[in-house]
Amino acid sequence: MSAVAPGIALRGHHEIAGTPLFAPVSCHLPAGQWTCLLGRSGTGKTTLLRLIAGLEVAGQFVGDIAVSDGLPIEGRCSFMAQTDLLLPWLSALENAVLGQRLRGEPPDLPRARRLLERIGLGAYLSARPSALSGGMRQRVALARTLLEDRPIVLLDEPFSALDASTRAAMQELACEMFRDKTVLLVTHDPAEAIRLGHQVIFLTGEGARIWPVPETPPLRDSYAPDSVKAQAELMAALRRLA
Ligand SMILES: Nc1ncnc2c1ncn2[C@@H]1O[C@H](COP(=O)(O)OP(=O)(O)O)[C@@H](O)[C@H]1O
Ligand SMILES: [Mg+2]
Repeated sequence: MSAVAPGIALRGHHEIAGTPLFAPVSCHLPAGQWTCLLGRSGTGKTTLLRLIAGLEVAGQFVGDIAVSDGLPIEGRCSFMAQTDLLLPWLSALENAVLGQRLRGEPPDLPRARRLLERIGLGAYLSARPSALSGGMRQRVALARTLLEDRPIVLLDEPFSALDASTRAAMQELACEMFRDKTVLLVTHDPAEAIRLGHQVIFLTGEGARIWPVPETPPLRDSYAPDSVKAQAELMAALRRLA
């Protein structure tokens, strides 16, 4: 059985070589829910994800990251980076089970195969990344993250290279497979944020603002009037920063 997902609270500010990246922010990722993070390029979204994952970042973070169950995040978190990070000499199937292989665990190849088939890559199990399109590579990277089954999931623009219909299908799959996990997803797409987020955070140089979302739970109907209104308002706010 999967471990229970904890909530995460982050408070602090970050600077790089004396220049503030983000002002003091205070954000809470509710346990077992999806938080979508938006903001213009360069506002520190990837940095924030890397801080939570405990990965190296440029500059200094001053603050603290608290986990609701008091246990370390290390070992309980999967991170899908903005670039696919596939190893060029491995096949799609081998890349998908890389996490297990690196930990010296026997890879669950039947499960990985089923998942790759479900995401439309059944004919490409043996293909190297160089033989795949950008969207296919991103789906292999997504499969790798989905197979990890960790309670905390950090996704950095996971659907950015996908065409509209594949993107909608992958959002639905991730929503189903990451149900009850604590998810932080970075996106530039207001419609994606409103469709997927129990909570939406809007990051600017001034701080992190909680953006109102419709009362209905995700996965939301993107064409419902309250979804359309929330997307339009979020888009307008992003454009005001441009
Ligand atoms: N290794 C690095 N060295 C110096 N500056 C960096 C480095 N990595 C990121 N930055 C700077 O940090 C800022 C925020 O980067 P990032 O967290 O990737 O933003 P976002 O994901 O919101 O686009 C950018 O302005 C970028 O130039
Ligand atoms: Mg980024």
